[in-house]
Order: sequence, then structure tokens, then C-alpha cells
Amino acid sequence: MLPKRPLGQTGMEVSLLGLGTVKLGRNQGVKYPQSFKIPDDKEAATLIALAKDNGINLIDTAPAYGNSEQRLGKLLAGQRQNWLICTKVGEEFNNGESRYDFSTEHTRSSVERSLQRLNTDFLDIVLIHSDGNDEEILHRHGTLDTLAALKKEGKIRAIGMSTKTVKGGLLAAEQSDVVMITWNLQYDAEIPVADYCHQHGKGVLIKKALASGHAAKSQGANVNALGDPIKQCFQMIFAHPGVSSAIVGTINPNHLRTNISAI
Ligand SMILES: NC(=O)c1ccc[n+]([C@@H]2O[C@H](COP(=O)([O-])OP(=O)(O)OC[C@H]3O[C@@H](n4cnc5c(N)ncnc54)[C@H](OP(=O)(O)O)[C@@H]3O)[C@@H](O)[C@H]2O)c1
Repeated sequence: MLPKRPLGQTGMEVSLLGLGTVKLGRNQGVKYPQSFKIPDDKEAATLIALAKDNGINLIDTAPAYGNSEQRLGKLLAGQRQNWLICTKVGEEFNNGESRYDFSTEHTRSSVERSLQRLNTDFLDIVLIHSDGNDEEILHRHGTLDTLAALKKEGKIRAIGMSTKTVKGGLLAAEQSDVVMITWNLQYDAEIPVADYCHQHGKGVLIKKALASGHAAKSQGANVNALGDPIKQCFQMIFAHPGVSSAIVGTINPNHLRTNISAI
């Protein structure tokens, strides 16, 4: 079973691997090395069961991931208590294009919609889905204040931001419970955010740990089969005591098994 780590001071314990679900709901406007078919319900249920049976308790989605939230609402029916659900606000993806809205009105209605779609009374983690202008969002839109109010109302357990810059990550960490940052073998610029979070008891989730699949692929099929670059990547990331979990997006059960055994 995969070990768990505390998610900062949220009181939640998350498995070292979380399941990313972009590929359960969206295959347009993504930067994966290969095109892919969105798994059907049976395939998705098998993947989720495999994850759960190996100790994964964290699942990451977003309104911008096509119909990922709606699908999870159905797929997790009857097993809500086994999962910590992380979703986001701010990005909408329709007709092949992203649109961003960080306003109070949109944030509230987005959270209400996520509760409905995910068929749940509360969301464990809600992150601002940044468009890259992390600092501007935090300074101008008051989105974290709206999320904090929703947390007080009992609709969310922990709030934070999925950031794209070091300054934005530090600011988000100062003002919230959890930050989601990018860290992989090719890109480690955001480590200072993980350092800050560790010092201040904030949770750190890693996105794109496998460089959206390019890390595994660039090493060639044989090395990949041995799980080498993957092991290397997880060793690097989990050596940092501030890192709570890496959200890896896979729809391939064998890849999920490789990733679990690499840890
Ligand atoms: N702004 C944000 O908030 C944001 C942005 C990006 C991502 N995310 C979250 O983070 C998750 C992960 O990000 P990501 O999907 O961009 O990147 P990632 O986890 O680094 O890479 C996922 C890709 O790697 C492949 N892969 C996984 N394990 C593999 C293995 N053992 N061998 C070979 N290939 C493997 C997957 O293909 P297969 O399906 O074929 O395994 C998939 O195409 C997303 O699903 C999402 O939940 C959040």
C-alpha cells in the first residue's frame, strides 16, 4: 500500500500518488505526447478500483477537464468516503478553448456546480486554476477570500491554488492551505515554494511530475519498462519533506502499477 503524508496542517493525510483525471474527460487542447481515447465507464472504474486497492486516496479533477467531474460523480458513487476530492475554480474549457473567471460570483457558482456534479456535500480541496498570472489573480480578484468563505460555510475543507510562478506560489502559500506546483526531472524552478510550504505547514501537491508523459517517453521504451526515469523522478520529489503527493494523470492500468511500484 502506498504510504500517506500529511497535507500541511489541513488534518488530511494523502497518498504519495494521487490520480489525475484530465484524460477521463478531455482529449482536446492537451499537450500529451500521444493522442488517446477517453476511457469508457468500465475502464475508468477499473482504474479507480486499482488506485484505491493500492492505497491511493486522492483524486484530482477540475471544471476545465471536460466532463471529468460529472463522470467522477457517478464513478465514485457509494465510495465517496474512500476519497479526498480535489477540484478547481477559475478555468472553463468549452468548444476547444479556455476561458478564465476568478470573480466572486463565478467562484461561488463554480463550487456549487462542482458539488452537484461530484454528487457530494463537501469538497476536500478546491484550488484556483491559474491562467499563469498568479499574482494578479491573488491581488485583484479576491478569489481566495471567496473560497475561505465557502470553507467557513462547510462546503470546502481546504483551499489553495495551482500556480505557475514562484512568486505566485509563495503568495498563495502565505494565504491558503495548499499549493499545487510543477516539479519534474526537466523543471525544478518552483522548489522554493515547496521549501516555504514545509517551513510554514502548508500542503504541497505536485503536478506534471512526469512532464505530462514526456519524461517517461523520452527515455525510450526499455528504460521506461524498468520504471527508471519514473523512479528517479519520484525519488527526487519525495526526498523533499514538504511534498505531500504527486498527482499523476494516467489512464493505463499498467502505467499506474509501474508508478506505484516505482515509489
Ligand atoms: N493547472 C493545473 O492545475 C494542472 C495542470 C496540469 C495538470 N494538473 C493535474 O495533474 C495531473 C497530472 O498532470 P499531467 O497529466 O499533465 O502530467 P503527468 O502526470 O506528468 O503525465 C501524465 C502523462 O504521463 C503518462 N504516464 C503516466 N505514467 C506513465 C508511465 N508509467 N509510463 C509512461 N507514461 C506514463 C500518461 O499516459 P498514460 O495515460 O498512457 O499512462 C499521461 O499522458 C493531471 O491529470 C491533473 O489532474 C493540474
